[in-house]
Amino acid sequence: MNIAIFVSGNGSNLQAIIDSVSKNEIKARLVLAVSDKKEAYALKRAEKAGIETFVLDPGGFNAREDYDREIVKELKKRKVELVVLAGFMRLLSPYFVKEYKNKIMNIHPALLPLFKGTHGIRDAFEAGVKKTGVTVHFVDKKLDHGPVILQESLEIGKKDTLESLEKKIHALEHRMYPKAVKLFVEGKIEIKGQKIKISA
Ligand code: GRF
Repeated sequence: MNIAIFVSGNGSNLQAIIDSVSKNEIKARLVLAVSDKKEAYALKRAEKAGIETFVLDPGGFNAREDYDREIVKELKKRKVELVVLAGFMRLLSPYFVKEYKNKIMNIHPALLPLFKGTHGIRDAFEAGVKKTGVTVHFVDKKLDHGPVILQESLEIGKKDTLESLEKKIHALEHRMYPKAVKLFVEGKIEIKGQKIKISA
């Protein structure tokens, strides 16, 4: 199975998936790393792992769909069957979501539907909740929304600071995202409407 990973920033989740593929835990090919930001550190990680990169600056496009069409062309050329969003900071157009229906995953650093948006970790910390976590889900047209594949929670302790919580969340992400990708590659995820069934 050919996988494309979309990134905009540090790429620590990309790295976790690269490591899992190189250990042969995920039996798939990472054929393309797509980014909207040429300065994303994630691109360096991709290059180091020998993954082809494709950077497309949204600046020159009037419509979101036109931008997405350019990317979809690149994905089709490489017969991509799974799109993994790993810190990609753009909302996909309905066109893109339709093209890859139930084949786009995202990871969110909170327990969706709580704390959607760019600052999931900080928002949970500031809200004073005792638990937060990580959600891996399929992507639909709405932001941070779609059938939940995996969700795990962790405690926010009295001694936690925003920084310590970030560390814990990222460590959890790096365990969960490769696991979710592996389940998909092995055909173990069944989608029924909003609900997901995972086979053993
Ligand atoms: C992660 O916290 C992920 O949940 C969110 O964006 C962050 C990306 O981090 N969607 P990285 O670029 O994978 O290090």
